Amino acid sequence: MRIKERIIILPNGKEITLKSAGAEDAMKVKLHREATAKETHFMAREPEDGPFNLERIQEGLASFAESDRNFMVNAYLDDELVGDLGVSVVRPLVKYLHRGNLGMSIRQEYTDMGLGSFMMKTALEQAKENGFEQVELGVYSDNLGARHMYTKMGFAEYGMNPRAFKLKDGTYVDEIIMVNFLDTY
Ligand SMILES: CC(C)(COP(=O)(O)OP(=O)(O)OC[C@H]1O[C@@H](n2cnc3c(N)ncnc32)[C@H](O)[C@@H]1OP(=O)(O)O)[C@@H](O)C(=O)NCCC(=O)NCCS
Repeated sequence: MRIKERIIILPNGKEITLKSAGAEDAMKVKLHREATAKETHFMAREPEDGPFNLERIQEGLASFAESDRNFMVNAYLDDELVGDLGVSVVRPLVKYLHRGNLGMSIRQEYTDMGLGSFMMKTALEQAKENGFEQVELGVYSDNLGARHMYTKMGFAEYGMNPRAFKLKDGTYVDEIIMVNFLDTY
């Protein structure tokens, strides 16, 4: 499904539109994911993992748009995509349908201005409307800004996957596992 459009004005005066990317936006999403993968070590892919596959992104976006539960929240500055968030069922099996998995990224230039919190609030409200009872995510332990924002938005840390990530310099980073029970949304 696609979310209802919303507008947020950032503290720098820029107007951001939140809407759901569809298959037609695959190239924008690809460029966004390539850029955010380089900006921090907090995203999954490294350049060595190979390029993002445009067709796969297209298929993924089409499937999100057609789903009655899964959805995207994307942030556009004019025509440029600066934020990407997706919520999808953890596993498409009856026992798992109450659980949504969330991933998100924002271009560095647009972080720390409240955009992530606004995207998250939109996503949590939509998740509840779509029948999810809880939203879950994993975050690098050294991603203190993200952990702060997730906690502020109602997530609690319930677990840790030790040494989940090995960076190119050989250091390990733990993954913190968080959940947000949607009773309050
Ligand atoms: C994580 C991310 C989505 C957060 O979005 P955002 O737009 O920066 O979030 P907001 O501006 O709404 O909130 C950030 C909060 O973290 C705080 N913060 C920033 N850096 C911090 C730090 N090092 N330690 C503690 N808090 C920090 C800010 O002060 C702000 O808090 P406040 O709302 O109480 O004032 C965004 O920074 C991002 O995409 N980063 C790169 C990719 C990434 O890390 N993705 C997440 C993978 S799990």
